[in-house]
This record gives sequence, C-alpha cells and structure tokens, in this order.
Amino acid sequence: MKNIQGHNLTIGYEDTVIIDDVSIEFPVNKITILIGANGCGKSTMLRSFARLLKPMDGDIELNGRSISSLSNKQISRELAILPQNPVVSGSITVRELVEMGRFPYQNWRNKLDEKDKKMIEKALKDTNMLEFSDRTLDSLSGGQRQRVWIAMVLAQDTDIILLDEPTTYLDVTYQIDILDLVYKLNKEEGKTIVMVLHDLNLSCRYADHIIALKDKKVYKQGTPNDVVTKEVVKHIFDMDCEIIKDPLYKTPMFVPYSRAI
Ligand SMILES: Nc1ncnc2c1ncn2[C@@H]1O[C@H](COP(=O)(O)OP(=O)(O)OP(=O)(O)O)[C@@H](O)[C@H]1O
Ligand SMILES: [Mg+2]
Repeated sequence: MKNIQGHNLTIGYEDTVIIDDVSIEFPVNKITILIGANGCGKSTMLRSFARLLKPMDGDIELNGRSISSLSNKQISRELAILPQNPVVSGSITVRELVEMGRFPYQNWRNKLDEKDKKMIEKALKDTNMLEFSDRTLDSLSGGQRQRVWIAMVLAQDTDIILLDEPTTYLDVTYQIDILDLVYKLNKEEGKTIVMVLHDLNLSCRYADHIIALKDKKVYKQGTPNDVVTKEVVKHIFDMDCEIIKDPLYKTPMFVPYSRAI
C-alpha cells in the first residue's frame, strides 16, 4: 500500500523553525485536509513531503523508504504536488503544461506514448480545459490557469496527490467541481489526497481526516466532528464562532461572529 509519513520532522528556513518535531501520517486512500492560520506552516509542510524543501531534522518515508534515498523520477511517479503559487518559465500552451505531468514516465527519447496521450486527454477533459488546449497559459484567467495546473497534477497519475489551496481563484461552481473531482479520484481510484484548504465548511464536507496546525505543532487531528469545534477554532484562528450542522451533508458548519457587527 502506498503511504507517506513524517517522523520527528523539524522544518524551516535558515535559522527559523516553522514546524517543530512533528510526526505525521496521512491516512492511505483517504482525504486529509490541513487547516491553520496564514503563515502557520501548511505549505512548508506540504513542500517538504514532496521533497521540495529538505527538513532540518527527521525523516519522510514514502512506502517505507526515506525520500532522501529516492530519485526524482521515483518520487514523481508516486506523488504529485500542486504548489500554492505554481510558476512556469516562458510562454507555454495549456497542453504543453499538462504534458509535463507525464515527464516522470518518459524515457530518453522523450516521446509521448498512447498511455501518456490518454492520461493527458483525460486530465484536460476532467478539468474542463480541452477547449483551451492550444491557448497559452498567460492568456488565461486566474481560475482557468489554476485548472490547468490541476490537470497537470492529474496527468501525473500518482497514488498520492498533495494540493496546496487548489480552489484559490476559482468561482463557486469550479470550487465544488474541483473538490468533487478530488472526491471521485479518492473514492473511485483510491488516491490518497492531502490538501490545504481555507474553507472550513468545505473542509468538513470533503475530508475524512483534518489536521489543524498551530504554534509549530499539530494542535488537533481527527474527523471533522473531532476537529472543527468552537474550542479548536478559537485556539487556531482566535475566532469566536458557532458550529451548526450543514443542512445538506450533516457535517460541522462554521458560522463566525463578526468583530464589528
Ligand atoms: N522561502 C521562505 N524563506 C523564509 N521564510 C519562509 C519561506 N517560505 C515561507 N516562509 C515563512 O514560513 C512561515 C510559514 O509559511 P507557509 O507558507 O508554510 O504558511 P502557510 O500556513 O502555508 O500560510 P498561508 O495560509 O498564508 O498559505 C511564514 O512565516 C513564512 O513567512
Ligand atoms: Mg500556504
């Protein structure tokens, strides 16, 4: 079974520790959502699980092997990441970017085979980007661009998918579409999903497991019912709220008190 875990991880930048001695395991075949205030270290943590940032201490194991001992290709066939602010250099078309998702499978000839082409078409179709295939990335709206990046991650066809705020820039329809797509990938293909999401209500609706970060540590983790409580919200966001039941899905629903009204 494909799994990823971090042992006694300390992560940070130069002299600054952002995550301090945290062990974490993302449940296999489940959707885990990381929540926490701006700057608490969600992206930092996700990036180190994708080996984009080396932990200061501790180890990350992918299927029982330290990721520091694996090649880039080995990692990127098992795990794909959508960073919070992805960038690509130069002018590139939608299709070209999505094709990059297939790089981990290519040999020295760098030619796309039938499977590659099928995965690329599927990714473009699932994100509703087929009609934009030949457009350049810089000619798209923020939301359309975000969908292309998601398509690239899908084309990579990995068992583990890390998504850092995948619904940022998306209008409400596409937010739900993308989360539904993630949900289907999890339910139908058994993908293990770890994502950062700021919307607590959608987090409760889609997550099997929620991890709340605060003060360099995991403050609380568990089911949405365990984690999204008045007490936890107060502690991690310094925000008073009521928690009611989502009328549609019966999951916890967060209703914040305003500080002015
Ligand atoms: N490249 C970097 N060099 C130095 N410090 C950084 C770097 N990237 C992030 N930080 C700092 O690390 C801390 C955690 O940042 P991170 O991006 O992980 O937060 P986050 O929880 O993802 O926040 P947000 O919700 O705003 O995306 C912040 O204080 C940030 O300023
Ligand atoms: Mg972030």
